[in-house]
Amino acid sequence: MTFTPLDRPVRAAIVGLGRIYDLNVRAYRDNVDVEVVALVDPSEERRAQRALDWPDAEVFESVADLAASRLEIDAVEALLPIPLHVDGVVELLGHGWHVNLQKPMCNDLADAERMLAAAQDSGRVLRVMENYLFYEPLRRLKQTVESGEIGEVSGYHLKMVASGRGGWDVPASSYEWQFRQMRDGRGILVFDDGWHKLSTMVWLFGPVREVRAWIGATEVVPGIVIDAPTTLVWEHDNGARGVWDITLATDMYLRSDYYTNDERWEVTGRRGFARVNRCTGRGIQQPSLEVYADGEMKAFHGLDDDWASSFRDSGRHWLRWLRTGEGPLWWSADEAVDVLRLALAAYESSAAGGTGVAPASVH
Ligand SMILES: NC(=O)c1ccc[n+]([C@@H]2O[C@H](COP(=O)([O-])OP(=O)(O)OC[C@H]3O[C@@H](n4cnc5c(N)ncnc54)[C@H](O)[C@@H]3O)[C@@H](O)[C@H]2O)c1
Repeated sequence: MTFTPLDRPVRAAIVGLGRIYDLNVRAYRDNVDVEVVALVDPSEERRAQRALDWPDAEVFESVADLAASRLEIDAVEALLPIPLHVDGVVELLGHGWHVNLQKPMCNDLADAERMLAAAQDSGRVLRVMENYLFYEPLRRLKQTVESGEIGEVSGYHLKMVASGRGGWDVPASSYEWQFRQMRDGRGILVFDDGWHKLSTMVWLFGPVREVRAWIGATEVVPGIVIDAPTTLVWEHDNGARGVWDITLATDMYLRSDYYTNDERWEVTGRRGFARVNRCTGRGIQQPSLEVYADGEMKAFHGLDDDWASSFRDSGRHWLRWLRTGEGPLWWSADEAVDVLRLALAAYESSAAGGTGVAPASVH
C-alpha cells in the first residue's frame, strides 16, 4: 500500500456516537489536524446530542446516506458495536476512507482476513486503535524497563478486577451487543477489556511463544455469564514470563470516572520492580507508577494518569499520522491480528484443559 500524507486537515466522519464517543472525541477537539465534517448514527437521540459538539458537521442516519451525500471524507473514526466491526469496516474502506477502528478488531481470523483484504483492495489504511499504549504511566513503565533501571526482566504480573459498583452509566443498548459477544464465546473480560491487556503484553515484551489459559465462568444474573475467574500464563520469544489474573468482585464499590476496572501491571527485574497501580478506575490512589530498585522507591506524582487522556493521545497520534505518515500506527491491522491470535490461543488452551498453545499456530 502506498500512502500519501494529507497536506491539509483530515476531513473526518465519526460513525457511532455512543458511550465511548465521549472519550474518543477528545482527540478531535481543538486539533488543527482535523475537521469533523460528518456524524453518523441510527439513533436520533445520539445524533441530536452529538451534533451540538459539531455545529458545522452534517449528520446522517447511516453510512450509506453519508456516502450518497458525496461529502468528501478522508478518514472515519469507527465507534461501532463489535458485532458490526467486520461489515462496517469493509463498507467504510470500500468508500475509499481510512478507518480508525475500536478494539477488539473482530472475533476470528477469517473475519480479520476479510478486513485486511478490504484494506488492501481499497488502498486505504485500517488502524485498530489501542489507547492503552498511550496511557502515560504505561509508557513510563515501558521506558523504565527498557532503561535497565530494574535490571534484566525476570517476569511480570497483570491484574484485573471487574467490580460491579461505581463508575459511569453504560446504556442498556451497549449491553445487548456485549451479551451477544459473550454468547459467541468472546467474553467481556478476557476478550473485550482483556484485548487491552493482551496488547500491552505484546507491546512491552514482543511476540508470545506460548500461552496457557484457564478461563472460568460466573453466572451473575440468570443467563448472563461473565468470563471470570480466569488465569493466563505465557512466555515471550525473549524468555520473559507473565501471569494475568482476572477476578470478579460483584459487590465491590470502585471509584471510577469510567468503567469499574481495577488494573495493575508489575514488572520484576533482577534489581527491582516497576508497577502501574491503576488505569481505568481509581483503585489504589497512590502515584500511578512506582519504581523500586536498590532499596529505594521512586513514586511518580506528575503523570497524566487520567485514562481518558490515552484516548485523546491515541486519536491525535492517528490524525497526525495521516498528515505525516510518520511513526508506528499502534496498531496497524497486522499488529492487531497478532493480538487476536493471542486471544484465540488462550481460548484454544483453555478448551484443551490449559495446555500450551503457540499463537502463531492458531488457524
Ligand atoms: N478503547 C476502549 O477502552 C473502549 C471502551 C469502550 C468501548 N470500546 C469500543 O468502542 C466501540 C463502541 O462501544 P460503545 O461502548 O461506544 O458502544 P455503544 O453501544 O454505547 O455505542 C455504539 C453506537 O453505535 C451506533 N450504531 C449502531 N449501529 C450503527 C451503524 N450501523 N452505523 C453507525 N452507528 C451505529 C449505536 O446507535 C450507538 O450509538 C466498540 O467497539 C467497543 O468495543 C472501546
